[in-house]
Amino acid sequence: MTDITRVGVVGCGQMGAGIAEVCARSGLDVMVAETTGEALEIGRTRLLNSLAKAAARGKISETELAETQARLTFTTDLGEFADRDLTIEAVVENEQVKTEIFQVLDQVVTRPDAILASNTSSIPLVKLAVATSRPDHVIGIHFFNPAPVQKLVELIPALTTSEGTISRAQALVEKTLGKHAIRAQDRSGFVVNALLVPYLLSSIRMFESGIASREDIDNGMELGCAHPMGPLKLSDLIGLDTIASIADSMYAEYKEPLYAAPPLLQRMVDAGRLGRKSGSGFYTYV
Ligand code: CAA
Repeated sequence: MTDITRVGVVGCGQMGAGIAEVCARSGLDVMVAETTGEALEIGRTRLLNSLAKAAARGKISETELAETQARLTFTTDLGEFADRDLTIEAVVENEQVKTEIFQVLDQVVTRPDAILASNTSSIPLVKLAVATSRPDHVIGIHFFNPAPVQKLVELIPALTTSEGTISRAQALVEKTLGKHAIRAQDRSGFVVNALLVPYLLSSIRMFESGIASREDIDNGMELGCAHPMGPLKLSDLIGLDTIASIADSMYAEYKEPLYAAPPLLQRMVDAGRLGRKSGSGFYTYV
């Protein structure tokens, strides 16, 4: 086991809630923070509903459900993160917002070797690391959606991250959380998004140019290549705003057209059609 028992999760959107669920189900004491009482209530409901569903499907017993719920606390005050051994930030893909959170965590967290991690998909970890006084203890720990289901976690050390931080994060991911860790350099998109996002953008370009319907594009990849979801359904699951910001970040880094967000994607984001989370994207959700 590891020396990490108290975890903080900043943000309780779909990724933050999923990460908090994974940590609490693995026996860790988890504190979850959101910016407002309203956002916290939405996040808490999302998380508790997901746990209730896991119990209803027989994945955890009623006793485990009660124990897991008891390991979770919720706050709107990051000041309460003082005793956390590890904090995982999982807020919007916005460098300024994330940087400010890292600066606050750096002030608040008392344990000198506490790890400050980000679930970012594309923002350079080194930028978050140098915003703190402990750049050797900052690392990317990137989960996949839905976090309780997907087995993979990417570990992304910044140039400044110490070997000790990498091995403690790896032990937590593999031994405590039971996930498979892969390591990537601090380059936009890391391993998975650098491969996945150009494919998703291609499917949006294909749909935009009228080559095939959304259903035929998705069925093509589900039935032709055994993907669990077609690319347009998957884009809706990830969130179109998230895909657009990952694409913009990779395009800024590599200057390659394959990472350029197609106009339709940006228009849908502007229209608030963000996928499942907003009720509509390429498909409509009730
Ligand atoms: N939370 C917890 N469990 C969930 C879940 C959620 N949000 N969604 C589905 N599940 C569980 C279900 O309970 C079910 O479990 P059992 O079989 O044990 O009962 C199992 O997953 C399958 O679910 P469903 O039968 O409801 O539906 P499905 O078979 O269509 O699977 C899916 C749904 C798991 C989402 C599957 O379609 C899938 O894996 N899709 C691909 C998702 C993917 O590629 N994710 C990576 C996105 S990239 C990313 O996240 C990185 C980034 O930075 C953008």
